[in-house]
Amino acid sequence: MSQPNNLSLELKELVAQMQARRTKVEAGGGEERQQKQRSGGKMTARERIEYLLDGGSFLEMSTFVEHGRNRLMDGVDAPGEGVVTGSGTIGGRQVFMFSQDFTVLGGSLGKMNAAKVVKVMDLAAKTGCPVIGLNDSAGARIQEGVDSLSGYGEIFYRNAIYSGVVPQISAILGPCAGGAVYSPALTDFILMSKGSSYMFITGPEVIKSVTREDVTFDQLGGSSVHGRKSGVAHLALEGDAAVLDGIKQLLTYLPQNAREQAPRAEVSDSPTRETPELLEMVTPDQTRPYAMHGVIETLVDRGSFMELQPDWAKNIIVGFARLNGESVGIVANNPKVMAGSLNIDASDKAARFIRTCDCYNVPILTLVDVTGFLPGVGQEHAGIIRHGAKMLYAYAEATVPKITLITRKSYGGAYLAMNSRDMGADVVYAWPTAAVAVMGAEGAANIVYRREIQNSENPEATRAEKIRDYKEAFDNPYVAAGKGYIDDVIPMETTRAQLIQTFAMLRGKEEQRPFRKHGNIPL
Ligand code: HXC
Repeated sequence: MSQPNNLSLELKELVAQMQARRTKVEAGGGEERQQKQRSGGKMTARERIEYLLDGGSFLEMSTFVEHGRNRLMDGVDAPGEGVVTGSGTIGGRQVFMFSQDFTVLGGSLGKMNAAKVVKVMDLAAKTGCPVIGLNDSAGARIQEGVDSLSGYGEIFYRNAIYSGVVPQISAILGPCAGGAVYSPALTDFILMSKGSSYMFITGPEVIKSVTREDVTFDQLGGSSVHGRKSGVAHLALEGDAAVLDGIKQLLTYLPQNAREQAPRAEVSDSPTRETPELLEMVTPDQTRPYAMHGVIETLVDRGSFMELQPDWAKNIIVGFARLNGESVGIVANNPKVMAGSLNIDASDKAARFIRTCDCYNVPILTLVDVTGFLPGVGQEHAGIIRHGAKMLYAYAEATVPKITLITRKSYGGAYLAMNSRDMGADVVYAWPTAAVAVMGAEGAANIVYRREIQNSENPEATRAEKIRDYKEAFDNPYVAAGKGYIDDVIPMETTRAQLIQTFAMLRGKEEQRPFRKHGNIPL
């Protein structure tokens, strides 16, 4: 920083004082703790900001805020109050952010730490910009008691009331406990770093004393647990830099706020590119799986598919992509896992993603190849009725442009849950390989013609004949197309161009709904 030579001594001193104070704040918990942080493969709070934001764009806020005083905090030093907050740009777009500093009292959250976070959340809502939280915190600051709980309350409240107003993205970059996981849980997306981040409401020590269970950090709440078992994390990536890159990529599919559209990206792929490879990918044999990921990647702009929750509820695929540069949300059954049937986790995963797309004006493309809801006592007792209903609700509620493409089978309740015409799809297409029915031909024949099959001289021959009859009648897209439930049966080779054209047609879509305070989605 350059200064004129003729400054008075007093002014020089004031400036030096400010700089000294700033340097102390910027040093956080000190060199030793920062080295410990780095040796664990992690960046420091400020290094993360520098990596995330466009160079030189960081505008720090609340720099000199100090901790909330009380008897237990007397004499405690907390430079920066354990969190760095402010705004900046990513790819030229303004965002607000906070980066918790684990080197200062474990990044724990006291009243004034919360005040810093609340300040940027409020500014983000007022100016219509995303909020990014880089979480590396031991949760409520024990020494501040109820004040730190109140601090979390203020943050949770804003997480909730700004939900669907501006995108909120959480990175988990260290051991996060208590409020440091519940606040992210209230945001739109959670990205975890593999091997160096953990999420739990209480740590292994408390668990041991209460339930006597012996568990490691990783077994309790590592990225593998939340990426594969709980579904809490949308992505688990290799280290801090990958997580921060993931946030940058995610933002490109999202608008600044709920009043805007996501920005259009530069396109290097032709909107009329033909896709004959789909003819080899999708087999009409309903019993043979194929790679739905390959189908998605073939249809969308090359390299644009960003899958979310890829290792949880793998029977359904969700993620963002682009069609001719425009952001689109993809929901697709995965015939390679459980024949693409819908179970509890898949319903939760899809419903949440559909609502995320809808609140941020991202149109939805649904690719259907589904046998039905997964039957079984386990699923029924765990509430598949309640969870499956979320999908029905989410599609019906969504007012963004919605295109459904039936790639192969679409049976029963899952036909409706995968956004049929009646559930609000604006346009429904099918490939010649599609089949729409209440259930598969074998099951249908066994139920409808059970008596006839039993009483027949040759039950197996009769069964085969009835299956064939049913297949001829229903195992094709033309019955549904004949009744207007499918708008067109289209060639696989030109589907990409047709989807792009159809989304362009739907761009001006507006849909008014009857007044209500808010809907009551089954949870
Ligand atoms: C104040 C804390 C703290 C806390 C850790 N520290 N937790 N200070 N409040 N909650 C301090 C430590 O004293 C230490 O200070 C530094 O942070 C690093 O902590 P370590 O334990 O040395 O780190 P590590 O071994 O990596 O373990 C991290 C940890 C563990 C797993 C997060 O510290 C832990 O279990 N902390 C308690 C977590 C917790 O129960 N939080 C309250 C949740 S309740 P020095 O000076 O040595 O660097 C909550 C309520 C919100 O959040 C509402 C929810 C709905």
